[in-house]
Amino acid sequence: MVLVIGGAGYIGSHMVKYLLQKGEQVVVLDNFSTGHRRALLEGTLVEGDLRDPECLNNLFRTYSIECVIHFAAFIFAGESMRHPAKYYDNNVLGCLRLLEAMRQYEVKQIIFSSTAAVYGEPQQIPIPETHPLTPTNTYGETKRVMEGMLHWYGQAYGIRSMALRYFNAAGADPDGELGEDHRPEEHLIPLVLFAGMGKREQVYVFGNDYDTPDGTCIRDYIHVSDLCEAHYLALKKLREGAPCNQYNLGNGQGYSVLEVIRTAEQVIGKPIPTVYAERRAGDPVRLVASSEKAQRELGWRPRYPDLATMIEHAYRWFLKNPEGYES
Ligand SMILES: NC(=O)c1ccc[n+]([C@@H]2O[C@H](COP(=O)([O-])OP(=O)(O)OC[C@H]3O[C@@H](n4cnc5c(N)ncnc54)[C@H](O)[C@@H]3O)[C@@H](O)[C@H]2O)c1
Repeated sequence: MVLVIGGAGYIGSHMVKYLLQKGEQVVVLDNFSTGHRRALLEGTLVEGDLRDPECLNNLFRTYSIECVIHFAAFIFAGESMRHPAKYYDNNVLGCLRLLEAMRQYEVKQIIFSSTAAVYGEPQQIPIPETHPLTPTNTYGETKRVMEGMLHWYGQAYGIRSMALRYFNAAGADPDGELGEDHRPEEHLIPLVLFAGMGKREQVYVFGNDYDTPDGTCIRDYIHVSDLCEAHYLALKKLREGAPCNQYNLGNGQGYSVLEVIRTAEQVIGKPIPTVYAERRAGDPVRLVASSEKAQRELGWRPRYPDLATMIEHAYRWFLKNPEGYES
């Protein structure tokens, strides 16, 4: 059985659907701190907190877990700088409790949601996995620490892990059943669409004097379904006995903030009110992944690399669910 922790969240819910479609048996652990009940279409749910040893004990005792896919974390870089304790508690302590339960119940395989934020300000583009890990915010730092824990638990206790470093997750379930609903929302594509749909007055562009063709920051967007496929390939690799490893997951192609806005305007067929604001401190100019290693070693090929498709899938879900999962 595969245990998906954080399976009621944005990426986790898509993963649960993907695994069930592949015929896998799935149990979800979620405390609904940021996830949504409606995002869980099927599968067995254990409602509880990752940091609660008793909850983990019951879970690992009840279900025969072969592999853990660990999505549960707090995810906002800005918030992590104001409330580092909250991030160390949920992300790092949560991971420690999980690894301890895995050690106790002899569960030897884990796929971990890491992030491009572990790299900090990039020294080269596209960013390879060998790039130094020098995060510039507490969120990225907690993920770096968690990757370290996985490494050392691997060395000492034989727990084999795959740390998947996502760049910007985007889009929604191509069938239209699942979507993105973060509260507050801080991701660019939903914010752009909300402005286009009149749910927000405008979208802010932070800085238009960067050294890029249109002056705005460049990011690498990866479709949530492509992320799911990469996790599934990583699961297969772990089952074949692969050792600990880390993989970037991105498109290898960057889009500027203005390109995202222009593409969204084409998708929804109307202008999006846009306001230019000051640069935000600590925003790297460019973040673009080299995903060559995942392509080569996992055999992963993004199926939806096109930005317009990602925006279209996200838009379709927002049209059907204007208040997100509360609709
Ligand atoms: N969204 C992105 O663009 C992105 C990019 C890079 C990495 N990531 C990583 O991917 C993972 C998933 O991101 P997301 O966007 O789906 O986030 P999300 O907030 O939508 O999902 C997180 C899920 O984990 C659950 N959760 C959190 N703490 C928990 C706890 N202590 N016990 C039990 N459940 C708990 C939440 O209720 C939620 O369902 C995170 O680890 C994040 O750091 C996301």
